[in-house]
Amino acid sequence: MNCDIHDPKLASAGRQRILWADRNMPVLKRIRERFDKEKPLDGYTIGACLHVTTETANLMRTLKAGGARVLLCASNPLSTQDSTAASLVEDYGIEVFAIRGEDRDTYYKHIQSVISAGCHVTMDDGADVVSTLHSDGAKYAASVLGGTEETTTGVIRLRSMEKDSVLKYPIIAVNDAITKHFFDNRYGTGQSTIDGVLRATNMLIAGSTVVVAGYGWCGRGLAYKARGMGGHVIVTEVDPFRALEASMDGFRVLPMKAAAPIGDLFVTVTGDCSVIRKEHFEMMKDGAVVANSGHFDVELDLVQLGEMAVKREMARPLVEGMTLANGRTIFVLAEGRLVNLSAAEGHPACVMDMSFANQSLSAEYIIKNHEKLERKVYPVPKEMDRYIASLKLETLGIEIDTLTPEQVKYLSSWDMGT
Ligand code: NAI
Repeated sequence: MNCDIHDPKLASAGRQRILWADRNMPVLKRIRERFDKEKPLDGYTIGACLHVTTETANLMRTLKAGGARVLLCASNPLSTQDSTAASLVEDYGIEVFAIRGEDRDTYYKHIQSVISAGCHVTMDDGADVVSTLHSDGAKYAASVLGGTEETTTGVIRLRSMEKDSVLKYPIIAVNDAITKHFFDNRYGTGQSTIDGVLRATNMLIAGSTVVVAGYGWCGRGLAYKARGMGGHVIVTEVDPFRALEASMDGFRVLPMKAAAPIGDLFVTVTGDCSVIRKEHFEMMKDGAVVANSGHFDVELDLVQLGEMAVKREMARPLVEGMTLANGRTIFVLAEGRLVNLSAAEGHPACVMDMSFANQSLSAEYIIKNHEKLERKVYPVPKEMDRYIASLKLETLGIEIDTLTPEQVKYLSSWDMGT
């Protein structure tokens, strides 16, 4: 089998974890059962660049059940679960190229290994495959019918490519489905970011001042969870609407310069670069903890912090102490990479169930409809999004009301007042 993983002997531990996650992914399971019967992906090659976690493993199983040849590489060098990678190769016949902690060159070599298979559909989390297929891997772009994108940062990159008319094939923005960002970004990132911080530090959130940079989908979730655990939460923003929303949701809103001297824990979730930088680091308290849960490791300016540090020392696994000339030590979690995936296991399976239902149905949609699609970024079709929401409710045993004919008429009329 074509693959590059840490250790195939980890497969049985990985399989156990994959099956544990599968218990909480009933929507994806339902799709997998249909795919197994209908084989809608038969004869197609799917190249995925996603976090190599147990939830992703169940997505890979689903695509394979649909008849596809499936290749997977990591969308972050620190998020790979080596046991999951091993089980995918050994138990499920998926070609995996991912090793936890791989260096930058290996990371890109693994992306090349996936795209050189000649993919018909690409699946990205952060648009690294698309960007490689538009630069040094351009010769492999011709076979691609379409792709999907999992995260906010990737969708932003792809929209810029569409705007500059350089996008070579259509993309479905899975992130923008309601059944994705309302739940995965908010509840998934919210909970798993706290999980990552706690596993790395074992700090007490109650009574701590927690600074959340960015009050988007992820930031909202994180701010609410931190408050729920007794943290004094401060939000920083650049968008006036979001700042106003944070304020009316009951959070204290401050510029980072004002938050820097009072925070105990700082987490960036903006998708932006250098959100916390030299001017902020130099004001922080001794013992301040800084982490990032945004897609790329650019939100904390660790180059500047490294230059400011007179001493660097690992305090615990994934916790690096950086002592400044003023004698204070700032602790950086997981090298500034996605803390929820580097220090914990990423989002719970229950929420990834919907995200990956969107991914699998979008792959099927691309294969069925690629001739009609242009080189643009498309939303997930509304009916697909709604179908996933309905199925999720059904699997959770939640029933809702349906509109009566009178209500349908009322809601579509303009002449029926009081
Ligand atoms: P969003 O667009 O809903 O929110 C981002 C917010 O950050 C916006 O309100 C924006 O105004 C604010 N912002 C931008 N620059 C800022 C700055 N310098 N200071 C303060 N606020 C600033 O995006 P969403 O969906 O919340 O995603 C945020 C990031 O998290 C993205 O990079 C996304 O790809 C990533 N993400 C990470 C996940 C994880 O597992 N850790 C899961 C889902 C998304």
